Amino acid sequence: MKTSLPLLLAGLIALTAIPALSMEEDLRERVKLPEPMQHHLLGNMRKHLEVINSLIEMLGSEDFEEAAALAESELGMSSLEKHGARHIAQYYPERMQQIGTSMHKAASRFARTAMEGDLPAANRALAEITRACTNCHASYRIR
Ligand code: HEC
Repeated sequence: MKTSLPLLLAGLIALTAIPALSMEEDLRERVKLPEPMQHHLLGNMRKHLEVINSLIEMLGSEDFEEAAALAESELGMSSLEKHGARHIAQYYPERMQQIGTSMHKAASRFARTAMEGDLPAANRALAEITRACTNCHASYRIR
C-alpha cells in the first residue's frame, strides 16, 4: 500500500505538536507559602467552589435571601476573619491581595443585589465574583 505524502506529513506535524502542547509554559507567578498554609488555602478554595455551586442552585430556585446570606457570610467582607484571610494575605503579592479584596467586595455587592430579587442582575453580580476567582487563577499558583 502506498503511503500518501500529505498524510505522512500531517502525521509528523501532529507528533511534533504534542510535546509542544504538553510543555506549554506556565506563566503564572508562583507564590511561596509555608506548607500548612498551602493546605489551608486549598481547603478554603474548595469551600469557595462549593459556595458558588450553592449560590447557582439558590438563584435557580429564586431563594434570594438565602443566597445573599450565604454569599455575605462565606465570601463577603464579613468572611475575612473566618478564613484567616488577613494572616494568609501577608504572603500574597500586592496585586493578588487586591484581587482577593475585589472578590470579597464583589460577594458583598452580590448579597445586596440579590436582596433586590432581580434574577438577571443577581446573575451578573455572581459573575463578578467568579471573575475575581478566574483573574487570580490566571496569574498565581502556589505549587
Ligand atoms: C486572590 C487569589 C484567588 C482568588 C480570588 C481565588 N482563588 Fe482559588 N486558588 C488560588 C490559588 C493560588 C490556587 C492554587 C493554584 C495552584 O497552585 O495551581 C487556587 C486553587 C483553587 C482551587 C483548587 C483547590 C485544590 O484543592 O486544588 C479551587 C477549586 C479554587 N481555587 C476555587 C476558587 C473559587 C471558586 C474562587 C472564587 C469564589 C477562587 N478560587 C478565588 C487563588 C485564588
